[in-house]
Amino acid sequence: MERSNAVGVSFFGRGSISLLPQELRKRGVKRGLVITDGFLYKSGAADKVGERLLEAGAEYAIYYLVQPNPTVEIVNECLDAARTLQVDFLVAVGGGSAIDTAKAVSIVLENGGKVEDYEGVNRSGRKGIPIVAVNTTAGTGSEVTAFYIVTDPRRRSKMCMVDPNCMVSIAVNDVDFMMTMPPKLTAATGMDAMTHAIEAVLSKKAVPITDKDALWAVMVIKDYLPRAFENGSDVEAREMMAYAEYTAGMAFSNAGLGMVHAMAHALGGMMNLPHGVCNAVLLPYVMEFSGGFSGVSGRFRKVAHALGISFEEDVKDEEVVYMCTEHIRKLSRRLSLPKSLKELALEKPDFEAMADMAMKDACMADNYFMPAKRQVIEVYQRAYECKE
Ligand SMILES: [Fe+2]
Repeated sequence: MERSNAVGVSFFGRGSISLLPQELRKRGVKRGLVITDGFLYKSGAADKVGERLLEAGAEYAIYYLVQPNPTVEIVNECLDAARTLQVDFLVAVGGGSAIDTAKAVSIVLENGGKVEDYEGVNRSGRKGIPIVAVNTTAGTGSEVTAFYIVTDPRRRSKMCMVDPNCMVSIAVNDVDFMMTMPPKLTAATGMDAMTHAIEAVLSKKAVPITDKDALWAVMVIKDYLPRAFENGSDVEAREMMAYAEYTAGMAFSNAGLGMVHAMAHALGGMMNLPHGVCNAVLLPYVMEFSGGFSGVSGRFRKVAHALGISFEEDVKDEEVVYMCTEHIRKLSRRLSLPKSLKELALEKPDFEAMADMAMKDACMADNYFMPAKRQVIEVYQRAYECKE
């Protein structure tokens, strides 16, 4: 099936990659750069997409050195390749790392300067060159959002860019490209999507239409993520996760995110840890903390309903917050994800420096309230020590 939006076209369903050549022909693109990682290159996934590009009458080259948490250096290498080859479109084959790299390259190619110039919100003037995103994970929602993240290793920090000019032109969510995702990656990316959905509900920009998408995503992820994790060949679970992560992406692209992502970006940038795992560990601790604030606490009732938690309507907000938090902790355990930062990080992180970065992260601006730096440090400490 096909779903059009103001930004571009998205294809869903098993085998939907077959719809790509016709769409590319309509757009008249001729020279593409495929941006992917070594695993997807060796597995033949990048070539499978390449065949569709040839079918559309386009030629292509492949850059296959994308890493998790893509860096400024990787973006610059892709930029050099794209300029040398004079490409007129980019094709990301992968999850958030490949798609975010393509977004950064697209913006710099069209707007000039360097990727660091675009850190923050709405920093470019012109729409980037077209991007096709063939999504191979079910988590980041990057194929439908205006967000991208690039790591700056010199500062040990992640730059968060929010920019509608980076949005993907053609998104392909074909589960044939997701079936071989290992359980660990399924769990981490799936919990990233769960965090997007919950943060979109708790964000200060949440409105009924973003709640509708976010709460539906919560409902689907809580049922289908454990299935996809426990049996990677479960096509229905993979399909439902693909819809849910996309829908969570639509929700947060409009409602924004919040404190979990701001803290996860700082943690992941400092310690070079996977984004989804950072979110999964921090999520219940931030929920506990945020649930204590009036204005936010009531929203947990909606989250609880979506998680399938039953409670009497006269139950206090704080008890609902507790039930939601416990539900998320149990889900993480079922997915074999770490419970604390101690299990994750080899060395004790510098909470002070991480809190400074988190406070400045673009996602923090959408949090329902601005926490004090001291409170951010406390949440990191609780998450490190596993103080539930
Ligand atoms: Fe995320």
